[in-house]
Amino acid sequence: MAKMAASMLEHGEDAFRKLFKFYKRRNPPPDFSEVIDFSKGLKHEKVFRTELSSTAVGENEAHKAGLQPVREWKAFGLKGYPGFIFISNPFLPGSQQYWVKQCLKVYPQKPNVCNLDMHMTAAETENIWEKSSQLLRSKGSGKREPKTLLEKLRWVTLGYHYNWDTKTYSAEHHTPFPADLHSVSKHVAAACGFPSFTAEAGILNYYHSDSSLGIHVDESELDHTQPLLSFSFGQSAVFLLGGTKREDPATAMFMHSGDIMVMSGHSRLLYHAVPRIVPRIVPTPAATPLPPCLLQGPEWSAPEDSLVRRVKEEDWEVCARYMQTSRVNMTVRQVLGLGQAFPSEETRTQTLSTFSKDSAEGGENINTKKRKNTSDGYGES
Ligand code: OGA
Ligand code: MN
Repeated sequence: MAKMAASMLEHGEDAFRKLFKFYKRRNPPPDFSEVIDFSKGLKHEKVFRTELSSTAVGENEAHKAGLQPVREWKAFGLKGYPGFIFISNPFLPGSQQYWVKQCLKVYPQKPNVCNLDMHMTAAETENIWEKSSQLLRSKGSGKREPKTLLEKLRWVTLGYHYNWDTKTYSAEHHTPFPADLHSVSKHVAAACGFPSFTAEAGILNYYHSDSSLGIHVDESELDHTQPLLSFSFGQSAVFLLGGTKREDPATAMFMHSGDIMVMSGHSRLLYHAVPRIVPRIVPTPAATPLPPCLLQGPEWSAPEDSLVRRVKEEDWEVCARYMQTSRVNMTVRQVLGLGQAFPSEETRTQTLSTFSKDSAEGGENINTKKRKNTSDGYGES
């Protein structure tokens, strides 16, 4: 009986892991025909169109944040995943370039925190953009050249800085959340029925063609009634959405440049992962592998008070080079509920010791989000 239970568990636990490995596999590459592609509309039986609150965001407000009017957005739900909303690229033509530039040039700057800070001095991680752009611009496609700091960037945290070791946020480790990202997040959340959403923490992930992100749940935020927003730019990725238990089966979908995913309600605490980046195939050697929506400069004239500004040509040149092989994802979270505060130091220590006891007894800590989205593995391979 005990043996039976163990084998069932093992079998169950394999479902998500197996799919993760299937899509991560290099040789031979996997068949992507089962991956849902929301940009193709309602082709998949699980996909349905969903209405957003088009009156929750003024057209002018949306425009200033580089977004189309909400009534134009193509939003989808997924059968079996209530609270999950997929918005297929709602950005105005040309405005994605601004967000890419923010992710590469602006957000890695102090006082924000990045992976390079973990093993480099403050002086070394200063001016990552300036130290990398010249080199990146002049680089051939040869893999032998030393990596620039920008190419070594893996994550940046904003607002309440996520602590990877304790898996918590704290009042002490906080810097101002970027106003532009706060604003675009507010609009997206409001359109999805969460008008009181406040962006308080952000995790930006930088992926290269061999990167992946292990199976995890984002549960460190104290208020789970607010959604988690995810914005993707650059190369496409396969995203796996599972269940409330790690062993539940998962659904695979593509995330393309400009796509926004909202995890709310039942879907707020679902296991998920990114097993693979799927770089565009270059049809001819002269063609650029950037998605077309990133090649467009702004067709629209930015209003005077627009948040989203035109990217200078010399900056875009560097961004374009970087994005030819990369993907950037921004996740935006509300950490605290209205009027909520962080637990006191005492309660926190108690929670932590319970946590480590649990994981010691249970062996592998399945709730661990492995934040090493590099080819060096996640414990999934
Ligand atoms: C995360 C996350 C998914 C992605 O940062 O928690 O799940 O698409 N990111 O990169
Ligand atoms: Mn996540």
